[in-house]
Amino acid sequence: MRNIEFHNRERETKEIRSILDSRPTSITFIYGPINSGKTELITHTIDELPDEYVVFYINLRTKFLSSCDDFIESLFEMEMETDGALKKRKETLAELVSSVTKVAGIPINKEFLDYVFKDNKPKNAFSYIIKLFEEVEATGKQPVLILDELQKIGDVKVNGFLIYELFNFFIDLTKEKHLAHVFVATSDSLFIEQIYNEAMLQGRCDYLLVDDFDYEVTMDFLDSYGWGEHEKEITWKCIGGKPVYLIKLINAKVSEKKIRDVLDGMLILRTGEIKTTVKRVNELGGEIRIEDSSYAVNYTGLVDTLKRFVERDEIDMGEVDEISITFLVKKNILFVDPLTMMVKPQSKLNLLAIRGAIKDV
Ligand SMILES: Nc1ncnc2c1ncn2[C@@H]1O[C@H](COP(=O)(O)OP(=O)(O)O)[C@@H](O)[C@H]1O
Ligand SMILES: [Mg+2]
Repeated sequence: MRNIEFHNRERETKEIRSILDSRPTSITFIYGPINSGKTELITHTIDELPDEYVVFYINLRTKFLSSCDDFIESLFEMEMETDGALKKRKETLAELVSSVTKVAGIPINKEFLDYVFKDNKPKNAFSYIIKLFEEVEATGKQPVLILDELQKIGDVKVNGFLIYELFNFFIDLTKEKHLAHVFVATSDSLFIEQIYNEAMLQGRCDYLLVDDFDYEVTMDFLDSYGWGEHEKEITWKCIGGKPVYLIKLINAKVSEKKIRDVLDGMLILRTGEIKTTVKRVNELGGEIRIEDSSYAVNYTGLVDTLKRFVERDEIDMGEVDEISITFLVKKNILFVDPLTMMVKPQSKLNLLAIRGAIKDV
């Protein structure tokens, strides 16, 4: 395995830095296909920030979230209490804030946690966070709240959906109080589509697309690992600029595997998976849920949608039916960009796999 250094992302880093340089006024949604490097970009940007920023970063990816309580719990990090003679328990907000490093979860102690969970959920949690952020601000620092993989709470309900309560809280932190910068990251393009069409968020958020590397950045990335022209070109043709695949290949090359063979293997595997998905809909039918209703997936509509990618790399959302698109997005085959209304495969590999899978249908 090679140690891979953070590569490029100049445009995206600049954009985040310019948001951070100004007064908090809106929520920033960082979106893009799966494994395009959103989390990596966030982590790297945080590392490079000066100490005047205090970043509260919460990644919900690995959290089990079936209720509002689960979500509240995932936000906080309990301060270890040492009752011994040497360390005093952190009792006040100021004491809790004093122990915060540049990147952390949201610190809390037992008493505040009891308050947060007592009643009036999730409002008590939010009012605690506001008080804590005000305390950070009082020390001359700028709080930044980042929630990664937020779509995971999409279905959690508290008097309606939790997500709406959360959005109100974010609007309060940014547009109303100008207290903290708020960033939300997600790979789920259906979630971003829902957000984009959400009336309460209109004019209150910005969007930052983090896509796979483009051609130049990919070539440059592979150059830095000493790749030859032929290998770079076949790699771009087969998998495009998805960082996670590029790293897989860089590591394969270190162990002296033939790049062509690795690429062929990846394509065969993905083509087979897509073929199976299509075959199952044909033979067993398929179903998806959109909001609170169930819809049957229509085999002909599905095939028609996939066939559009035989000649083109991306299509317009209006060209094909909503159920097929939603089904294929949920299967991580397609990616929808609600800002441009374009639909494209999750990666170049998926594009080629779609073409291979649909060839004989
Ligand atoms: N700019 C980059 N430079 C180097 N490696 C990267 C970069 N972006 C992503 N990666 C690699 O790709 C993997 C997937 O990226 P990640 O940020 O987890 O994707 P996402 O959050 O968009 O799903 C990371 O583990 C990292 O190894
Ligand atoms: Mg991520």
